[in-house]
Amino acid sequence: MRVVILDSAAEMARVAGKESLERCGLLANRHGKRLGRVVLGLATGGTPVGLYRQWIEHFRAGEISFQSVTTFNLDEYVGLSSSDPRSYHAYMQEHLFDHIDIARENTHLPDGCAEDLNEAAASYEWQIEEAGGIDYQILGIGSDGHIGFNEIGSSLASRTRVKTLTRQTRSDNARYFDSMDQVPTMAITMGIGTIMSARSILLIASGESKSRAIRDAIEGPVTSMVPASVLQLHPDVTIMIDEEASRLLAHCDYYRESEANRVRLKSVSLGVTQGREFP
Ligand code: F6R
Repeated sequence: MRVVILDSAAEMARVAGKESLERCGLLANRHGKRLGRVVLGLATGGTPVGLYRQWIEHFRAGEISFQSVTTFNLDEYVGLSSSDPRSYHAYMQEHLFDHIDIARENTHLPDGCAEDLNEAAASYEWQIEEAGGIDYQILGIGSDGHIGFNEIGSSLASRTRVKTLTRQTRSDNARYFDSMDQVPTMAITMGIGTIMSARSILLIASGESKSRAIRDAIEGPVTSMVPASVLQLHPDVTIMIDEEASRLLAHCDYYRESEANRVRLKSVSLGVTQGREFP
C-alpha cells in the first residue's frame, strides 16, 4: 500500500488529478507513454469534485481527450431516477461528463430505479466484464470506513448488489437533501470483490472527519467492520490524503520517507529501466 500525505485538500486534488491521468495513460507522463482504451471506475461525493476539476482543466488545456475512455460508477441511490438532481447520474453530468468529450454511451452507472434491482446489479457486473474490467478505480471513503456503499459487515468477496445504508452514511449525505427523511435508505453498489478486481486503485480522503476511517483502513486489521481495510490485500493501491485525514496514523514519518525514496528511485532508475512505476 502506498500512502501519500499532502499539505491540503487542494494539493491532494491537484496531485491525484495529474497522477491518475498519467497512470491510466491519458496524460503522457515523462516517458511519453499513452495507452489505448481505458476503463475507469468513478466515485461521487464531495471528495472527488476537486480531482474531476483537474481533469476538466487538463481537457480544456487540450492535453487530454476522454474519447477512448469508458467509465463505471461505483453506486447509485435506490429510488432516484437519473433526472433527479440528487442522483449520482446527475452528479456525474454536473461535475464531469458535461465538461469533457466522453461519449455518453461509454458512461455507466447502476440503475437505482430498475424494476428488478438484482437483475440490474447482475447486468452491471456483466457490463464491466464485457468492457474488459476496470483498469483504474477512484475511491472515496465513508466516515464509517465504507468504500462504494459497501457498509460495515459487507462480504469482502461481494459483487454489485443492493445495500442498506447505515444511519451514519445517511446523516453524512443528508447535506445533499432537504431533510434526513429524504435520504434514500438503500443503494445499488459495486461489491468489494468488484472493486478489488480493478487493476489499480486510488483512494482519496481529506478532512479530520475521515481520520479514524483512514487509520483503521491503513493500520488496522483487515475486517468487514472497516470495508476499506480490505485494500491492504490489493497489490496496487495508492491512498492520497491531506494532513487532517492523516492525523491519527501512527506511521506518518515512515510513509513520507517511503514516498521520498520512491521519487528518488524513480529518477535514478529513469536512465536504466525507463522508470518503472511501482506501488
Ligand atoms: C460515492 C461513494 C462513497 C463516497 C464516500 C465519501 O460514490 O462510493 O463511498 O466516496 O461516502 O463521500 P464524500 O466524498 O462525500 O465524503
